[in-house]
Parts: sequence; structure tokens; C-alpha cells
Amino acid sequence: MNVLIIGGGGREHTIAYKVKQSIRVKKIFCTPGNAGILKICEPVPVPPDDYPGLAKFASENNVGLTIVGPEVPLCAGIVNEFHNRNLQIFGPDKKGAQLEGSKIFAKEFMKKYGIPTADFECFDDQKKALAYINKKGAPLVVKADGLAAGKGVMVCQTVEEAKQAVKLVMEDKAFGDAGKLLLIEDMLYGEEASILALTDGKSIIALEPSQDHKAVYDYDQGPNTGGMGAYSPAPVVTSAIMEQVNRKVLQPALEGLRKEKIDFRGVLYAGLMIKDGQISVLEFNVRFGDPETQAVLPRLKTDFVDLCLATANGKLSSIELKWDPRPAICVVLASGGYPGKYHKHLPISGIDDAEENNDVTVFHSGTDTRHGELVTNGGRVLGVTALGDDLSSAIEAVYEAVEKIHFDQMHFRWDIGAKALK
Ligand code: AMP
Ligand code: GLY
Repeated sequence: MNVLIIGGGGREHTIAYKVKQSIRVKKIFCTPGNAGILKICEPVPVPPDDYPGLAKFASENNVGLTIVGPEVPLCAGIVNEFHNRNLQIFGPDKKGAQLEGSKIFAKEFMKKYGIPTADFECFDDQKKALAYINKKGAPLVVKADGLAAGKGVMVCQTVEEAKQAVKLVMEDKAFGDAGKLLLIEDMLYGEEASILALTDGKSIIALEPSQDHKAVYDYDQGPNTGGMGAYSPAPVVTSAIMEQVNRKVLQPALEGLRKEKIDFRGVLYAGLMIKDGQISVLEFNVRFGDPETQAVLPRLKTDFVDLCLATANGKLSSIELKWDPRPAICVVLASGGYPGKYHKHLPISGIDDAEENNDVTVFHSGTDTRHGELVTNGGRVLGVTALGDDLSSAIEAVYEAVEKIHFDQMHFRWDIGAKALK
């Protein structure tokens, strides 16, 4: 069977790496890909946002399974396009993708189906939002409703900050149409964790838990990024917490999807806040997390293509998940200046040295090839993943590998996984 992967980041390189391990697979196609992905996948002569064109390509090239990495094509309806041609595709349809594409849709869904989440109010009018902030007082979290590449959430410690955030969204239109509506949410405290669950619409099953590191600097300082590193499993998700996740989040979500007649065959990602043994959902995403995927999938022993196919064709209950018990950790190597402005096309060296350790894999995020040379091409450039007998050995191995890699102004966090050692 041939497989098509949509996307071009570290998550998609990890997906391609797992697909390549499957004995069922002949050719792997990917668009737009990156330098690492295109070493193991064939490029696709169709732009990544031409969804009818991609469906046509899949029909004509014997593609038995398409796996969608990012949220944008899912929210735009790529899955509907493939289903119209009777093609197997991993991901929710356009309506299901609203769980990520509209934060208000997600919060209302959670409220309707009793899923624990922070109290909130929605606004389409700046004056009313400001009046609510005056009445409610700080701290508060202001969120643009639509997709904003992870930048639409502002955690505000003071009333003034919250008002500025509302102005940024509604008056300055910093997030364009994504900010036509906004929601204001109560602040939650605790430790975060990511649950990636697979559902075929009939059953739902959580993958091993992980934890992301969103802030750019050590000890969670500085602005938020797409994610500077992750590890799996996350000990903050004890078996008692996992039981709550199943009972209070995943099962009610599945029931909600059924009752709302949503065709959801892909990943439901629940971002959790955990405090004093209680969970609350911060957000839903409708795809694998990045960089959580780089820490979770290398531990998966079940054939990944079997798993995705079973999810896409409603046979998930026939699959048994098997895991490598060893923890995995991924450290993201970022461009100088990221998450702000950064330079591109800087030469990268040392990946082969880093991968000399068999427990280390380097996943490409923002990379390209120029005149035969590997160069940077994004804010997050590489994700270095290591497995270890325990988390301390994984941490040691990953930083040993990281120190072998170089590009000008490369920066990364030194404390990935440190929380779990406490
Ligand atoms: P989201 O995209 O909704 O997950 O928000 C991005 C990040 O903002 C989360 O990972 C949290 O760190 C933070 N955040 C979102 N909502 C809240 C909340 N209600 N209380 C505290 N922090 C939050
Ligand atoms: N790592 C956060 C996300 O994928 O949304």
C-alpha cells in the first residue's frame, strides 16, 4: 500500500518514520515535507493546500491511507474532500475539526457533555468584553476564537493586561478573522499534560501521556512557542488521573461526537491542567501534538499504519496498543530569535554524529536543502529524541546528542524533562 502524509514539520517527520517501519507500505508520499522527510518520502507535485488536487493524486497513485498532520487542512475540510472520493484518510471532517478551529465551539461542547473545563464567557463586542473584565477582575485568560497558530491565547495577570488583550484581538485585529469572536476564561493553576487519544467514532483510546514545554526559556520563562520539548510518559498523569481522563473527558467526548453526528476518525488531543488530583481541559486539538509526537510515537510498538487504518475505517477496537516501556524525551533546537524573528538558510551540521547512538533519532522540523547542503528553514529546526532505561538516562543521552549538532544562533532549553524528576 502507498501512504500520503500531509504536512512538513517534526510531527510529520515522526509520522513518516513510523510509517516507514510498517511492512505493509510500499511508497510514502509527503507534501510539503522538509529535508528530513524527503529523504524517506517522495514529493507530491500538488500544492499542500489544493485539497481536491491531493484527493485526485491519492486516487491516481494507489494511496490506501492519507494521514493529515496539521490542523489547517483539517479545518478547511480536506477529510470531506477525500471521503467524497471514497478514500481512506486519518483525521476528523470539517465539522469535527471545529473542536480545534473554534475555541467557543469546543468550550460549548465541553459544557454540554459535562467535560471539566474553566468557566468562560463568549463575546462578539469589545465593550461588553471590557465590562466583563471590570466586573470579574484579574487574573483572566483571553482567547481568540479561531486558529491563530498557537498565538491567540493571552494569560493576563492584571485587569489592564486583559483589556489590552481584548483590544489586540478585537480592535487591532491581530489575529484577523480568528478574533471576530473571543472568549474570556477563568485562570487555572497546576501542571499541564497532553493526552493524544485515537477515535474511530465508535471507541476511543488514549496513547501514552506526555508533557510539552511551551515557554521558550528554562523554568518556563519567556513567551510561549509551538513547544520546545516533550517527554513521555508524564508521571503527573498517574493511573488515577488516567482513569479520570477516560471517565470525565474521553468517554463523554465520544458520546458528544456521536450525538452531534460528527464524523471524527483521528486524534482527539486534550490539553490538561492537573491540580490536587483533579483534571480540567484547557483545549482540544484534532491532530497529533508537536513536539509530543516526537516523544510518544518512538515508544509505540504497534504497527502505526495498522493503527491509523483501523482508526480511519472504524475498526479501532480490533487493535491492541503495545509500548516500549522506556521513556522518551525530545529536545527542540530552535533558530536564534524564535518565537520572534529569526534568520533562515543557516547550515546545519552534526546530525549523523548525534544519531550514532542507536537510541537517538533526529526529526527535522524547519529544514531545507540548498545547493546540496542542509540548512535551517523555520523557527523550530530539529527535534532530537532519545530513549533511555529511565528518564535520567534519556535526558543524559538526548543532551549528549544535542551538543553534537550545530547551526549559527541555535538555542534550546536545558531543562526538558526536569519536572518529572522532582
Ligand atoms: P490553549 O491553546 O488553549 O491550550 O492555550 C495555550 C496555553 O495557554 C496552555 O497550554 C496554557 O499554558 C495556557 N492556558 C490556556 N488556558 C488557560 C487557563 N484557563 N488557565 C491557565 N492557563 C491557560
Ligand atoms: N504542542 C502543542 C500542540 O501541538 O498544540
